[in-house]
Amino acid sequence: MSKLKILTIDGPSASGKGSLSRNIAKHLGFKILDSGLLYRTYAYFSQSGSNIEEISNRIKNEISFSFNENDVSILHKDKDITSLLRSETTAKIASELSALPKTREDLLTIQRDFYNQEGLVADGRDMGTVVFPKAALKIFLTASPEVRAKRRHLELQKRGQEVNMLDLIADIELRDMKDRTRTLSPLIPAEDSVVIDSSNMSIDEVLSFTKKLTKKEFNK
Ligand code: DC
Repeated sequence: MSKLKILTIDGPSASGKGSLSRNIAKHLGFKILDSGLLYRTYAYFSQSGSNIEEISNRIKNEISFSFNENDVSILHKDKDITSLLRSETTAKIASELSALPKTREDLLTIQRDFYNQEGLVADGRDMGTVVFPKAALKIFLTASPEVRAKRRHLELQKRGQEVNMLDLIADIELRDMKDRTRTLSPLIPAEDSVVIDSSNMSIDEVLSFTKKLTKKEFNK
């Protein structure tokens, strides 16, 4: 099986995938596919009643993603829709839509189209198992629910939002259970993935461990 020049990074929410993806993509000079954002964009367009052909065309022609080390911004034509896509309302619709076979099928081609020979870092839940099974390197990044809740808490605090830690942990555990047990693209590590438990690791430690893997696989 010929391998594609792709690094997939799958894992549950708040496991640090986003930050690892941006940093390692910069290091490798690869493009990024943040599939969670695609699901959110899909949710955004589906609210305006577009059908799938329209949604695909609009995602391809009207949306631009720009990544830096700290974050990503999404423009719809000239309008910055980052906060809208990041909102809990959009997350909820995206989560509902992502459980439907039709949505996953619609987004499959769009996601695969992100790949070109120059290399891709693909961040999501099923990148290594379903979307890019031939990826050369697959990482499954995880951390305990408590650690992820703490990270999410800090993130929300930075945005001026206060939430109860116990509620956050309970939410995360419930979502994990749903994600792992759903029949369609469940959140599980690909058989050939390297599992990294970042509960006791800093962002820099995860990054340098990943660099050792990419050095071996991509010589970078
Ligand atoms: O990672 P995120 O929170 O931005 O993802 C938004 C939603 O999309 C979330 O409910 C999970 C879903 N999703 C998915 O089902 N498969 C992916 N590859 C990426 C995201």
